[in-house]
Amino acid sequence: MDVGYKPQVGASAPGKVIIFGEHFVVYNNQAIVAAINRRCFGRADFIKNLGVQIASSLERNYNPQTARDAAATIDVRSNTELLEPLTIFCKNILGEYAPEIGIKIFIKSELAVGVGLGSSAASCVTLAGILKSIIRHSSSKEISSIDRQWIYEKALDGEQMIHNKSSGVDCYVSTYGGLVHFAGPTRTRTIENQPLPLFLINTHRRHETSELVSHVRRFRGNKSKRFNALMNEATAICSSGIKAIAKGSLEEIGLLMTENHKLLREIGVSNSEIEKIIGICVRCGSLGAKITGAGGGGSILVLARPETIPVLNAAIEGLDLCSESIEIANKGLIID
Ligand code: MEV
Repeated sequence: MDVGYKPQVGASAPGKVIIFGEHFVVYNNQAIVAAINRRCFGRADFIKNLGVQIASSLERNYNPQTARDAAATIDVRSNTELLEPLTIFCKNILGEYAPEIGIKIFIKSELAVGVGLGSSAASCVTLAGILKSIIRHSSSKEISSIDRQWIYEKALDGEQMIHNKSSGVDCYVSTYGGLVHFAGPTRTRTIENQPLPLFLINTHRRHETSELVSHVRRFRGNKSKRFNALMNEATAICSSGIKAIAKGSLEEIGLLMTENHKLLREIGVSNSEIEKIIGICVRCGSLGAKITGAGGGGSILVLARPETIPVLNAAIEGLDLCSESIEIANKGLIID
């Protein structure tokens, strides 16, 4: 393949927060999810040796808001552990579609790993975007809808490899961006979005999504009747959530978030530390607070009027925690 047309290929894709519906979405329930203004970035250079090499600084937990590198303060995974599945993922694609080239990809991320913000999905989408750009042999930065669909499907294969069973919600929103009502890839639509005052609190406790998804699968197996009742409640919360978002009623959205959290607590993905933080959020005047993503630690998503945030930050300072504001990102995967 003649690769002289383009010495480098770059791409980036956003992380996500799940506003309603995590875990239940694995069983074909709906979810409401937003791409966020924290991204994974990748750049590929062509090299002489055939195949793929990946280098990264993924293990570092960089907070662009505080410009603080928190790698030393959290339980970080080694680069090798993080990069092995991503390298296999790229090798599989390149082996099938362009075995005659060699590339070295460097990835870095504003998304801490294992905190519920869709870091692995954003990495897979970024890498699939880079590979698609190389395979299609065009220097255009436009991504056709067919290519975007291909990238979503390939990224989902990668996610399945990392997390075993994945609903596809993280890869979907990372590929397409925006605020999304996810009801399976064919019945999913973008919701007209207005700015929501969303904040994240990183518990600095990393989780393993696949373990939490397995835990919920066992709960469902052992208590199927109760699980189905909770699924119905989760569906009702999503439906009310869509109406509340359309109305712009922050109070209703917040109450529904806290209701959603109670379901997550019942299926066993919360813990005493998370409950303590959520209790503080509610007492400090937040409109709503919940786990976002797999739970077990990770991030807490808070909806709050900005004027209440100083009180919240003062209350969680003693736990060595701090909230950070996030915004919904309308752009999903970008090729640059
Ligand atoms: C992880 O971000 C969300 C889960 O619902 C798993 C999934 O949807 O694949 C816990």
